[in-house]
Amino acid sequence: ETLEKGGYEHFMLKEIHEQPRSIKDCFRGRLNAAEGWVSLGGVKDYEQKMINAQRIVMVACGTSWHACLVGEYLFEDLARINVEVEYASEFRYRNPIIGENDIVIAVSQSGETADTLAALELAKSKGATILGICNVVGSSISRITDAGSYTHAGPEIGVASTKAFTAQVTVLTLMALSLAHKKGTLSESKFRTMLSELEVIPEKVKRVLERNAEIEEISRIYKDANNALYLGRGSSFPVALEGALKLKEISYIHAEGYPAAEMKHGPIALIDEEMPVFVIATKGTSYEKVVSNIQEVKARKGKIIAIVTEGDTDVKEMADHVIEIPDTDEHLVPILATIPFQLLSYHIAVMRNCNVDQPRNLAKSVTVE
Ligand code: G6P
Repeated sequence: ETLEKGGYEHFMLKEIHEQPRSIKDCFRGRLNAAEGWVSLGGVKDYEQKMINAQRIVMVACGTSWHACLVGEYLFEDLARINVEVEYASEFRYRNPIIGENDIVIAVSQSGETADTLAALELAKSKGATILGICNVVGSSISRITDAGSYTHAGPEIGVASTKAFTAQVTVLTLMALSLAHKKGTLSESKFRTMLSELEVIPEKVKRVLERNAEIEEISRIYKDANNALYLGRGSSFPVALEGALKLKEISYIHAEGYPAAEMKHGPIALIDEEMPVFVIATKGTSYEKVVSNIQEVKARKGKIIAIVTEGDTDVKEMADHVIEIPDTDEHLVPILATIPFQLLSYHIAVMRNCNVDQPRNLAKSVTVE
């Protein structure tokens, strides 16, 4: 087992550090920025159908559901395709309105999650086209779907999903870009810039991982918290949800992810000097608005740990701690911004003597309802 961990203390840490590589593996044969193309062979024949679809429904559970939420922003903003994201467990029992013109995409690391599988079977029985984004080759979901794309993240052992999540987001990004290009919703120059930005993401992930020691220090300060709040806007909102999920899964600290603007409708009541608030405050369209959310937290003496774009000075002045991530296209921020949260939860869980790779009551793959 020590050998399998490749010198790391836990599988989770190993898997976090594998991300520059797993994202690159995900690109293999699918992306070439110099030649200006992106292609997902597995779903190629269904692209026109996706473009024509009245809507695409994405179904998943847990971390994979968060990847779908990022996918929703990408598909809608880049390819202007209407997407709805559903918890598989809710979708399957809601008598959903679904028919032959719908496309249902299931996102699942294991490809075995009972609710996700059942949601797909239901959609299929109603005539929808069903597609899959799975990590495990030959899994049940990959076998029942009409077509799909593998994430190629390699085996993920840690119960808390890390590299599978960034691979799912990567596949969804490739898909959104391919659809946008085909549909003509992105200018050729914007398309090419995004491909180049995407191609260097693994390098940038590596640079985020280099901040591990700094993130470990921040973790030490907040390891005894009872609650934590995670805030983000736009496609960073799902990153906030995922950050909160990671923390509660492995460190057993109660954490909630919220769209930053919703804070005033509830969570703000919880803020006091004991409350760490993790905020994604990278440069982009909602930067100013997030900055004002940070000020609201500070006015109530909350502690701010902000993920910012390298070189940021404004947030640095307000926040208790900042973690810098390299600048990138706004659509690609989720991949980078999620890394510090993975490391934070990892270190906090280790410091609290929690079983990082096998947290209590959780299973890697939930094959029963
Ligand atoms: C379990 C795992 C999570 C995972 C979820 C969905 O709860 O602990 O890490 O996100 O199932 O699993 P899937 O294999 O469908 O992505």
